[in-house]
Amino acid sequence: MNNIFDEWSLYSRILLHDYMRHQAISAKVANSLAEQVAPLRVLDLGCGDGWMAYECLKASPVSLYVGIDTSADALARLQSRPGIGSELGGGQMDLVCEDVRTALSRQPDAAFNMVLASYCLHHFSQAEKQALVQEIRRVLEPAGVFLWIDEVRHPGQTRQGYCQALEQDIRQHWKTLSLQEIEETLEHIRSSDFPEEESWMHAATQTCGFLALGLLFRDNLYGCCAFVPAAAESLDRSQK
Ligand SMILES: C[S@@+](CC[C@H](N)C(=O)[O-])C[C@H]1O[C@@H](n2cnc3c(N)ncnc32)[C@H](O)[C@@H]1O
Repeated sequence: MNNIFDEWSLYSRILLHDYMRHQAISAKVANSLAEQVAPLRVLDLGCGDGWMAYECLKASPVSLYVGIDTSADALARLQSRPGIGSELGGGQMDLVCEDVRTALSRQPDAAFNMVLASYCLHHFSQAEKQALVQEIRRVLEPAGVFLWIDEVRHPGQTRQGYCQALEQDIRQHWKTLSLQEIEETLEHIRSSDFPEEESWMHAATQTCGFLALGLLFRDNLYGCCAFVPAAAESLDRSQK
C-alpha cells in the first residue's frame, strides 16, 4: 500500500469536504445509538484521526475507546480531540500505532461491545478480511455490535469496474485536491483497495457467527452495515 495516510493533511480534506459520505453515515449510526444507555467499550480499527468515531458516538456514553492505526500523524490528531463519547474525556482512551492484524490479536476475548471498522477492511485480501472478521467476533461480547463501513461493490461489479466508478466520482467531485493529489489517491486505490460485494460481507460475517442487523447507509459507492453475534440477535428477538 502506498502511504497516503502517513501524512494526514490530504485525507483531512477528504473528511472536511465529506467526499466519502462521513456526515450521512455518522448521522445514521448516531441515530441508531440514540437508545444506548449502557457504556460503550469501543474498538476502532483503522481509526485514523477518529472523526468517524467522534461523530458516531458524540451522544453515547463511552467508557473505553481503543483506536488502532499505522498512521502516527492521524493518531496524534486523535489524541488532541477533547474525547470520544457524550462525557468528553470521561472514558479511557488507548491508541495503538500498529498494524490491525497484529494489534487486534492481542485484544482480550469479549472485551468490547462495539467494533467499528470504517474504511479500513477494504485494504485487505478476502482471506485477511475473513480472518479479521473472525477476530472481531472473538473480541466482541455476545450483546455487542460490529459496524462495517466501507467501499462496497454492486452485485456482479468487478474490482476494476468499482475502481473506475470511484475514479469518475473523484475526478468529478473532489475539487479541492490538486491534480497531483488526485493522481496519488487514484494510485493508492489501484494498488490497495479491494472492496467486496454486500453478499460477500454477509457470508463472511455469517461464517464467523454474526447476523446482519441492517444496512444503515448505502449509495452507489459506499455502505454501512451493522452485524450482531447470532446468539444475541436471536435472544433479542425471543424477548420481543
Ligand atoms: C480511509 S482511512 C479511514 C480512517 C477512518 N476510519 C475514517 O473512517 O475516516 C483508512 C485508515 O486505515 C489505516 N490503515 C490501513 N491499513 C492499516 C493496517 N494494516 N493497520 C492499521 N491501520 C491501517 C490508515 O492508516 C488509515 O488511517
